[in-house]
Formats: sequence, C-alpha cells, structure tokens
Amino acid sequence: MRPGSGTGGARTIAVLPGDGVGPEVTAEAVACLELVAAEFFHDFRFATHPVGGAALDACGVPLPPATLDACRRADAVLLGAVGAPRHDHLQGALRPESGLLQLRAGLGLFANLRPVSVPEALVASSPLRPEIVRGVDLLIVRELAGGLYFGEPRELTAERGLNTMAYSVPEVERVARVAFEAARLRRKQVTSVDKANVLEASRLWRDVVTRVAKDYPEVTLEHQYVDSAAMALITRPARFDVVLTENLFGDILSDEAAVLPGSLGLLPSASLGIGTSLFEPVHGSAPDLSGRGLANPIGAIASAALMLRHAFGLEREARLLEEAIGRVLEEGAGTPDLAGATETLGTAELGDRIRRHFSELAWSGTSRGLAASLGA
Ligand code: NAD
Ligand code: IPM
Ligand code: MN
Repeated sequence: MRPGSGTGGARTIAVLPGDGVGPEVTAEAVACLELVAAEFFHDFRFATHPVGGAALDACGVPLPPATLDACRRADAVLLGAVGAPRHDHLQGALRPESGLLQLRAGLGLFANLRPVSVPEALVASSPLRPEIVRGVDLLIVRELAGGLYFGEPRELTAERGLNTMAYSVPEVERVARVAFEAARLRRKQVTSVDKANVLEASRLWRDVVTRVAKDYPEVTLEHQYVDSAAMALITRPARFDVVLTENLFGDILSDEAAVLPGSLGLLPSASLGIGTSLFEPVHGSAPDLSGRGLANPIGAIASAALMLRHAFGLEREARLLEEAIGRVLEEGAGTPDLAGATETLGTAELGDRIRRHFSELAWSGTSRGLAASLGA
C-alpha cells in the first residue's frame, strides 16, 4: 500500500446526474472518483438517483422523497445539472430547477463555494486581455438558502408576480463566517457585495458582515455595491480574494466570473451546510451541447476534487486531481468551448486524459514517498 494511504471506511456518494449534459459530465467525475479510490485504497460506494427533469419523467416530481432521503443518508452528493426545454412550460415547485432548490433546502445547504482561477494555460481561452486575467484566483461565497430565491411572500397571478428578498441576522452571520474562515487560509481579504444603497435586506447584510469581521482581525473587509462589483469583476478581477454575496447576486456574478478563465464549463462548486454537502458544476444542462459528447467535464471533475477535500478531508487526493486537470490544460487539450485549446477533445476523451495524468502523478508521488522513506 502506498505510504499514507488507507481507507477511512466505506463512503457513500449519492450521484444525481439530472438533465442535458448533466449525465455526460457526471460520468466523467464518477470515473475520476473511482480511480482515486483504486489508487489510494479508499472505499467509495456510488448510488444513482433521479432529480430534475429526469425525476419528473420517472416519478412526476423534480425531487422524489427517496432521492432526498438517499442524499441525507449519503456522505456526499454529486449532482450534474437540471433543466430541459421540454419542461420550460412548468411552474413553481414542478420545475426541474425547483428540484435542485428543494434539495439545497432539504440538506440545509447555506454556503456555496465557487472558486475561479486563471492558470497560465487558460489565459488564451479568455475573451479578456491577458493582462486583465493573469493571476486571477478568487472564491465566490454565495449565500444559498435565503434571499429572493426563498423569501416569503411569493406569488404568481395573472396580474402580478411577487418575490421577496429577506435576510435574518443568523442567516447572514453563518455564511459570513464561512467566507472569513476561507479568507484566513487565502489572501485574507473579503469583499462583501450588496446593494445597501437601495435594499433594506442589504443594509442588514452589511451591518452583520461588519460585525462578524471583528472576529477576524487578520482579514481585511471591504464592501462594494453589486453593480460596481459586476464591472470590477471583469476589469480588475485579480484584486478579488473572497467575494461574499447573497443568493441571486452570487448566481449572476459566478456566471460572469466564468468569462475570466474562458468557459462556464470549467467552474466547480461545493455547497456546505448543516448536513451532507453537495458538489456540482456551476453550469446548467446546456441543451445546445446535450448528447453530443462536447461538454466540458472539468467543472464536474473539479467538483469531485472539492468533494474529496471538503466532504472527506482527502486533501492530497483533491490536489492531485486538480493538478491532473492543470496538466491537461498545460498540454493545450480541451473541449471546443476552450478557445485557446490547441488539441480539441470530446467529453470522455478529456476525462480519460485527466485520469491518465492523475495515475501518473499518484505513482510519481509514490516513488518520491518511497525514496524518501528509504532515505534516498
Ligand atoms: P447553461 O449553463 O446550461 O449554458 C450556458 C452556456 O454555457 C451555453 O452556451 C452552454 O453551451 C455553455 N455551457 C454550459 N455548460 C457547459 C459545459 N460543461 N461545457 C461547455 N459549455 C458549457 O445555462 P442556460 O442555457 O441558461 O440553461 C439551460 C438549462 O439549465 C435551464 O433549464 C436552466 O434552468 C438550467 N440550469 C441549471 C443549473 C444547475 O443545474 N445547477 C445551472 C444553470 C442553469
Ligand atoms: C445555479 C443555477 C441554479 C440557481 C438554478 C438552476 C436553480 O443557476 O446553480 O447556478 O439559480 O442557483
Ligand atoms: Mn446559475
């Protein structure tokens, strides 16, 4: 057995492929996790469950109770994407997207981590100038359980549609703590993004974040209005470290941030809360790519790396998987969404390439580890 390897007992992973490209990218992430388990002697057990449009077709609801139960009992959840044009006529709780929202709420997930970085190999894929995107390394911490997505009252009649943005002190406090804790381990800067010049919910947000900051004297806090932050994110992105923001602002800003490395297909996410954590790429079901073997699997595979780190505490395995992704990008390989790629691969081929690098890295690490333990 490799030095330092071993099982932490069986870990169950609930796999929810969902719709569109969801199953395609999820299959690649699962294959990576299977390889991690094989190389490092872990026992990962996968069980697939329906969610979104796939669940509507199979069970008539976008989040069957059995899926939620299985996720609650699992050690981690891996999700692909939900949503399909054929379900676009549905409303409210019957929409595929509602299945994901119900799952987030049902698991008590309130902090969504969306890291965005631009390694040198991706500079050429960005539509922005190299000097703007070079060195970008930021983390969006998106509040996931409140705000406009969940606020009451909400209503849709023939005459009007109504949603409510509401935040309570504990809701802001708990997600703010996640952001400050993350900043502590990074460049120690939090930018809290709100609309406190207009919205009462943002006023409270700003006050609470300012109070929480006092517990983290080593971290610098700044506040920025969301309109101004949206501009700064693509004009001076390298100045951001941790971006802390409410649910809808975080949704919008993270898709915008995908412009920095050049594709939405690259971005992973981790959703953390009071129970089982969920890992999913930031992108949606990409109906334009679905069934064509062209979707970028990196967002899903990098989400699997976040699972290894945040759900299982397997930091070394997480890093090796991220390094394997980095090496493939350095080779110039990528799916067609990566404008700077010099070698175009399909979804499964790119996944295979990442896995090949992972094995190489794992084994070169072993020989280094063995050499060190033999005093060589
Ligand atoms: P989308 O994220 O599916 O696609 C936006 C653009 O990004 C498209 O051009 C698409 O081709 C591209 N893209 C997305 N994923 C990619 C990948 N892996 N590789 C390469 N390119 C990729 O957003 P949309 O088109 O607005 O929404 C489509 C459906 O997905 C809708 O039903 C929406 O509600 C749903 N959606 C789901 C999630 C989720 O499950 N987390 C997120 C966003 C949207
Ligand atoms: C995301 C998606 C979801 C969201 C939708 C599908 C409910 O856009 O995960 O970014 O808005 O949170
Ligand atoms: Mn989104």
